[in-house]
Amino acid sequence: MSSIPMLRQSRSLFLRGTSRVTDLHKRMMALCAYDDEYLKARFAGKVAICTASTSGIGYAAAERIAREGAKVVICSRRQEKVDAAVKKLRDQNLEVSGIVCHQAKKEDRQRLIDFTLRTYGGIDLLFASAGVSPFSGYMLLVTEKQWDKLFEVNVKSTFLIIRECVPHMAERGGGAIVSHSTTAGVFPEATRNLNMPYAVSKSAVIGLTKVLVEPLAQRNIRINCMAPGPIETSFLRRYIQQFVPGETGLPKQAYDENFMLRFGEPEECGSVVAFLLSEDASYMAGEIIPVCGGINLREMSKLL
Ligand SMILES: NC(=O)c1ccc[n+]([C@@H]2O[C@H](COP(=O)([O-])OP(=O)(O)OC[C@H]3O[C@@H](n4cnc5c(N)ncnc54)[C@H](OP(=O)(O)O)[C@@H]3O)[C@@H](O)[C@H]2O)c1
Repeated sequence: MSSIPMLRQSRSLFLRGTSRVTDLHKRMMALCAYDDEYLKARFAGKVAICTASTSGIGYAAAERIAREGAKVVICSRRQEKVDAAVKKLRDQNLEVSGIVCHQAKKEDRQRLIDFTLRTYGGIDLLFASAGVSPFSGYMLLVTEKQWDKLFEVNVKSTFLIIRECVPHMAERGGGAIVSHSTTAGVFPEATRNLNMPYAVSKSAVIGLTKVLVEPLAQRNIRINCMAPGPIETSFLRRYIQQFVPGETGLPKQAYDENFMLRFGEPEECGSVVAFLLSEDASYMAGEIIPVCGGINLREMSKLL
């Protein structure tokens, strides 16, 4: 489908009135055709790694990037989830392979990179998506173990997987990276006593993204950060159950402040990741992109 609905509409109007096709009409029709082809081929010849990508947002991003022509390596901690996700994507004739990788384990990251190089010959794109939320509640009550886990997975392993992929991207002449924060990371104090330690770790992901812009730009690699609001995934369900024990669905009050009055879908993040990784975002680096149905946008924009 065209990504430019207005042009598509114009095209159908022109097709109906074929007797007076002007140069302008021809140019616009050519642009529509270009748009269709362009979207199909946006990542032709590119190799992408998406971590934490056997369900939810990571999966949706991997699917979108593969649909647009990339060869994609997906991964997560559990073999059965990797197998199921690879099958689902290959059933759509997408060029996808998978391997187990706990993003916080050095040997797993090394295996992931080696596997990608062996399978597809290089690395151009990375979506570093893994994140955990092992604690909910008041900031001063987080245990040291929970704090360590938050920072080990959300911050340290994000930095390390990026640093380990960079030489391989540079070898191919450059690349693009998306890190994964959250609206809570943009505006951690707004989480009050709900989940400040998680929010702080995701603020660190924003800081990490910003400081990496310069050293990566020297290697022709762009990095940007996606900051979703509540997205309908099992992560969000677990997160909400921490605050509302016994709650199995997603309570309405959780999106009361959202102007769209609904949660986001993983695919609505996948398309943003694809944009940020693509040449359509070629002059963007160090940007923190909220995908949140407008929640607190005015407040957050003070920090962006
Ligand atoms: N959902 C939201 O509302 C929301 C909003 C903002 C940001 N986020 C971010 O999204 C990420 C969670 O994704 P999701 O919401 O799509 O949840 P999800 O559907 O539960 O998916 C999480 C994925 O991550 C994998 N995973 C978990 N820990 C991992 C690790 N240490 N290493 C590698 N893979 C790991 C899981 O598979 P295995 O169990 O097999 O490892 C699964 O594939 C986090 O970074 C979170 O901060 C989510």
